[in-house]
Amino acid sequence: MVKTEEPFELNEISADPGTPIDRNLALELVRVTEGAAMSAARFMGRDDKIAADRAAVESMRRSLSHVDMAGVVKIGEGEKDKAPMLYIGEQIGNGNPPLVDVAVDPIDGTRLVARGLPGGIATVALSERDTLLKTHCAYMEKLVVGPRARGVIDLRVSHTENLHRIAAAEERPVKDLTVVVLDRPRHEELLREIRATGARVKLITDGDVAAGIMAALPERTGLDVLLGIGGATEAVLTACAVRCIQGDMQCRLWPRDDEERDLIHKEGFSEEQIFQAEDLCGGENIFFAATGITDGEMLGGVRFAGETVETHSVVMRSYTGTLRWIDAFHNLTQLRLRNELSLRLDS
Ligand code: FBP
Repeated sequence: MVKTEEPFELNEISADPGTPIDRNLALELVRVTEGAAMSAARFMGRDDKIAADRAAVESMRRSLSHVDMAGVVKIGEGEKDKAPMLYIGEQIGNGNPPLVDVAVDPIDGTRLVARGLPGGIATVALSERDTLLKTHCAYMEKLVVGPRARGVIDLRVSHTENLHRIAAAEERPVKDLTVVVLDRPRHEELLREIRATGARVKLITDGDVAAGIMAALPERTGLDVLLGIGGATEAVLTACAVRCIQGDMQCRLWPRDDEERDLIHKEGFSEEQIFQAEDLCGGENIFFAATGITDGEMLGGVRFAGETVETHSVVMRSYTGTLRWIDAFHNLTQLRLRNELSLRLDS
């Protein structure tokens, strides 16, 4: 059930924002990202970003409406009139407690999926109501590291200084660090500075949510730091995951022109302001899920084999710090029999 006009009616107890979230919603969210990934994966390499995105959004919307929660989309596909689905402010879930903020990116790496390139994922995060950052600024500068370098980063000092601090915390020379950066002309100066320190660089064409998570999980992925400017939506989703993993992250809004500069001032922010992971996602009960659409370094992509569809996901919960890697084999015959197919996959 998706309501768009009337607020949810909740009883007094469940409306209390202090009500703890006593179940692992991430395990419900993973069904949402699996469905979105499967739907989008049908469009892999077909050079149709819009169709891939639409399939993921529609799937996500359908399955989110069945999750036991009274959710409001805080970070989504855009404002109501620009995006008909999963728009910011939309109420989603079946209206039962808990009250939560929802951040969705049905495809992070739409171009990757449309071109059949590695690294496209479907992702969703939740946190208690009014805990996710809301901004209309499209971009943020980001710095993400894993738990060992927690507390040493500071966007106000130079990138060189940060890399030296991170290396010291990791007890390795700077030249052993691998820094992941979006391959964009705006990062020329940043890349020059990173290279001058001797650190290794990995350029990615898209998808800095997965890259940020990989930087926060260095033992598994070999990436140590994410640096550079990317989407603000992606920053909030990354912060949700980083807080679950207990890594560290700092961001700064990056307005592109005077109009955006005015906008962030009206929102009560400034360009100099440093956002910690807790400012992007301030909850204590954070849930994060992502599923690979195309094969990537963090997550395998969707594989179709007749009546079986294979997906690879990661789910996280901040309260317990549990991180699960989930390989799922979806039996389309059974799902069809149970009338659940449309919840997982457009067919
Ligand atoms: P979309 O899939 O939503 O297009 O985002 C892909 C992405 O690469 C993000 O991961 C990143 O934060 C953002 O785009 C960077 O924006 P831009 O491509 O404008 O530099």
